[in-house]
Amino acid sequence: MTKDRRPLVAGNWKQHVDHVEAVHLVTELAMRLRSVDTSSVEVAVLAPFTDLRSVSSVIEADHLELAWGAQHVSEHDDGAFTGEVSGRMLSRLGAQYVLVGHSERRRLFGMDDATVGRTAAAARRAGLVPIVCVGERQEDREAGQTDAVVERQLVAALEPIAADPGALVVAYEPVWAIGAGQPATPQDAAAAAALVRTVATQVLGEGAQPLRVLYGGSVDADTAGALVAPSEVDGLLVGGASLQAASFVAVIEAVADCYRSVPKASRR
Ligand code: PGA
Repeated sequence: MTKDRRPLVAGNWKQHVDHVEAVHLVTELAMRLRSVDTSSVEVAVLAPFTDLRSVSSVIEADHLELAWGAQHVSEHDDGAFTGEVSGRMLSRLGAQYVLVGHSERRRLFGMDDATVGRTAAAARRAGLVPIVCVGERQEDREAGQTDAVVERQLVAALEPIAADPGALVVAYEPVWAIGAGQPATPQDAAAAAALVRTVATQVLGEGAQPLRVLYGGSVDADTAGALVAPSEVDGLLVGGASLQAASFVAVIEAVADCYRSVPKASRR
């Protein structure tokens, strides 16, 4: 087993950062990243819809090594769906990634497993890479249902894209760890990531090969290195710590250090 997938560190800005602030944040991020060797790490920002055009303009104009994407996409390609944004709209802007089924969409906006699956399929039709989010709630965990919940969410999300999963990303984000200040332990994150890969391989077969499995939930510079060290974890989804360039770069540096210090082949 080798650990040769390029890790992805994605910043989820949630409903923070307007388009003017986004220009400043991306510019500062790029400036700070210049003095750090992060060549081993892919960095992405997942911004509110109104920021995307500005974010892409800065990245293009300054030839920045940053990927970007949205936090949600419609399950429909086109039509009378007031307030929704389609995958084609995002890919025409140049977006590469889109979060699908973040726990806040599931919990606050009624996104069920079937909708997550249809949304992942819509993202793929538009040529976007879905970052499918799965994770158990505190009550699931207390009931010993972590694996069952993750498996159920993942099967529902992946079956509709099984024929053409592309360069898929799955983020394991235990709901109880999001915004809590306390992430899962590296052992728990690794165990969940291993489960994600096993289930993805059952559903996708060979198509699961390029899959990257991220951990998310209260990641900061102090915890990033240990969380990404297990061979099962291929990167991080970062909320709060991605809102300041300095703290996000510190997370990225921790991941880069980890990948530098551990020989690839011994990590998986
Ligand atoms: P957090 O958010 O890092 O602020 O916990 C992560 C997420 O919700 O993606």
